[in-house]
Amino acid sequence: MKIAKALIFGGSALAISLLAGCKAGGDNQGLEYAPQMYHSVAYEPLTQIKDESQGTWLSNREDGKGEFFNSNVYNPHGMNMREPVANTVPRNKQGYLPYRLKAFELEQAALVQNPLESSEEVLKRGEVLFMQYCSACHGKTGQGDGKAGEIIGGVANLTGGAYVNLPEGHIFHVITKGKGRMGAHGSQIPEESRWKIVHYVKQVIQGQAAAAAPAPAVDSTAVAQVTPAN
Ligand code: HEC
Repeated sequence: MKIAKALIFGGSALAISLLAGCKAGGDNQGLEYAPQMYHSVAYEPLTQIKDESQGTWLSNREDGKGEFFNSNVYNPHGMNMREPVANTVPRNKQGYLPYRLKAFELEQAALVQNPLESSEEVLKRGEVLFMQYCSACHGKTGQGDGKAGEIIGGVANLTGGAYVNLPEGHIFHVITKGKGRMGAHGSQIPEESRWKIVHYVKQVIQGQAAAAAPAPAVDSTAVAQVTPAN
């Protein structure tokens, strides 16, 4: 009887102290059982540790190699990240080709067509984006009378003069790369959103009908190909 009690007492004391050890929080990550089950050992794309004995002292890897060995034996030179296939062009998530025109290549930019079909939804989103990114300078109706624009000065009135006839590709290019006193917004606004703003500027701010559906061949890469290299 005494032994049983002692066992229960001792056992629960042990269980409590073990459970207390499981606590995690704050800077304490707690203890993990078999951490490689939770954190898979991934190839690090930009490292290439080919020495199989690196970190042997720490290793419990099944392949018997050192913990820090990080090299893909199936790739040439043990590279972890393969080079892209020759003569291929990466597309982004939306399937667009990279925009390669330089800031001064406005003429070529004007030939690029809006790849995004206009719709009520696109215009609605375009409005939100215009208010967020453009209205501070260009004003809510695009007349160049935004509060920040008053200080900067020389803001284009998008509803007047030659600005009304700007091609969509030109507007996209100005948003992306900036022009004159206007800074580039390409790094702040994703490509698709920039084309939405273009639809909004053309159809709502400038009151023009949507352009015909774009011919798929005319994109910035096709235009860039006729551009002399520089
Ligand atoms: C910080 C103020 C500012 C912001 C923000 C701004 N612009 Fe501008 N924008 C200007 C100024 C200034 C000009 C006149 C540029 C020049 O010719 O020197 C201009 C010119 C333009 C032009 C005429 C380009 C040309 O060919 O002359 C367009 C189109 C335009 N902006 C669109 C936009 C759109 C769309 C946005 C929102 C994504 C935007 N701008 C955001 C200040 C701004």
